[in-house]
Amino acid sequence: MEKKKLELRAVKNLVFPYTPMLVGVNVDDKPNFITIGLIGWLCYDMMSISVGHEQYSRTGLEQNRTFSINQPTAGQVKEVDFCGMTSGRTGEKATLFETFYGELKTAPMIQECPVNVECRVVQTLVRPVHTVYVGEVVAVYANEEFTQDRVPDVTRIQPFFYAPDPSRGKQVHSYWALDERIGQAFEIGKDLKRG
Ligand SMILES: Cc1cc2nc3c(=O)[nH]c(=O)nc-3n(C[C@H](O)[C@H](O)[C@H](O)COP(=O)(O)O)c2cc1C
Repeated sequence: MEKKKLELRAVKNLVFPYTPMLVGVNVDDKPNFITIGLIGWLCYDMMSISVGHEQYSRTGLEQNRTFSINQPTAGQVKEVDFCGMTSGRTGEKATLFETFYGELKTAPMIQECPVNVECRVVQTLVRPVHTVYVGEVVAVYANEEFTQDRVPDVTRIQPFFYAPDPSRGKQVHSYWALDERIGQAFEIGKDLKRG
């Protein structure tokens, strides 16, 4: 099998379950939502978001140092795409949703999203295109109908991911559903145990 070395920017096109989330930020005391694919789950109590320097949401992040991560379901793919194409600087996005606030008071969250995470910024990393905001998780909320025994249920949440779609064109990306269970974690690998 021959390996090809790709250019560094190919990392943008990783086929990597890159699940876009709706990130909530208050800008000038008003809620705004931005679609973010560059989300990191760093450890159990920290998450990161990478926000382009030109984004309107960045103003709010600098004002309040708080944000929310709202996990959409496949049924909200249009809202995710819209919030990823429209800037709060010129268009209204928050009225698409019913919003609520939690402990931080300045991180707007989306009622209709199955899971919401409130974060307080504890560190930033300025890179050429993005600023990476590292947030400490302050609270997590879930809608009961998307959980089983208080555990978020993937079959009800129906998460989706964003990935290149080269059969439709070199620059085309699409949203893909994740809907097949292929094995139980910490179990299926036991089949490879030897001796
Ligand atoms: C699937 C998808 C993923 C995106 N990921 C990011 C991202 O990780 N970081 C970012 O700054 N913008 C990302 N964007 C673009 C922003 O969502 C978009 O520029 C948005 O209009 C900015 O909103 P704002 O100006 O109200 O902050 C993404 C867009 C889409 C559709």
